[in-house]
Amino acid sequence: MALRFNGSVGVFDSGVGGISVLRALVDTLPCEDFVFFGDSANAPYGEKSREQVVRLSRDIVDFLLDEGAKAIVIACNTATSAAAAELRAEYAHVPIIGVEPALKPATLAPNAKRILVMATPITLRLDKYQQLAEKWGSGHEVISAPCPGLASRIEQGDLDAPDVTGLLEDLVGAYAGRVDSVVLGCTHYPFVARQIRQVVGDVPLFDGAQGTALQLQRKLAERGLLTKSTAPGRVEFLSSKPGEEEISLYRSFFELK
Ligand code: DGL
Repeated sequence: MALRFNGSVGVFDSGVGGISVLRALVDTLPCEDFVFFGDSANAPYGEKSREQVVRLSRDIVDFLLDEGAKAIVIACNTATSAAAAELRAEYAHVPIIGVEPALKPATLAPNAKRILVMATPITLRLDKYQQLAEKWGSGHEVISAPCPGLASRIEQGDLDAPDVTGLLEDLVGAYAGRVDSVVLGCTHYPFVARQIRQVVGDVPLFDGAQGTALQLQRKLAERGLLTKSTAPGRVEFLSSKPGEEEISLYRSFFELK
């Protein structure tokens, strides 16, 4: 199947998290059309097996390609770690861009000796992260903090509720005042950036959204797939969870400041 420059960019995540990446994509490429698919019916991915995440991701890629996607952004650290290599091999004709914990920029920043990486249990367990930590971690103390339950809680919205800070206290409260920066290695976590700083301390936070947006721009340019339109593009939201309520939740996350 030939890819068309006037196709859309398909973006997916287990749920609302990918919207933190989508915002960077739209800021960087405002004239492209985007179709965002949130697999909220199957969230969280970060506590499933690798095989389950590969199967779910493949079904979504098939769906997005049927919808006319010219490129795919896996706006999910977990699905990138679990499935990107297999998906790229299976859909070799399609640009597939993933997101990874922003450990590289965190290690290159000044005065960052102790770096806390928050991510899902799967992301931290799989080889891709182990290799990343080996490549960039030397000379730093990289502390990996699996955060089970955090993505699921963010899916529910109402992020100023006290239980969100309570959960963060349980997950990373032990590092309060003891780290120089935090890598948000799950695309859900930027939505609770303020609450993470309240718990861990007022340190720089790093996420992979902007790097992913620039990589998408490069890949589309290389293949002659950048849109020729100069008008603002469309952003469409779809979910595996039925009902207009879920789509309204996605829109509210997209509009959060
Ligand atoms: N937002 C995803 C990530 O970046 C997955 C969270 C989840 O579903 O567990 O890892």
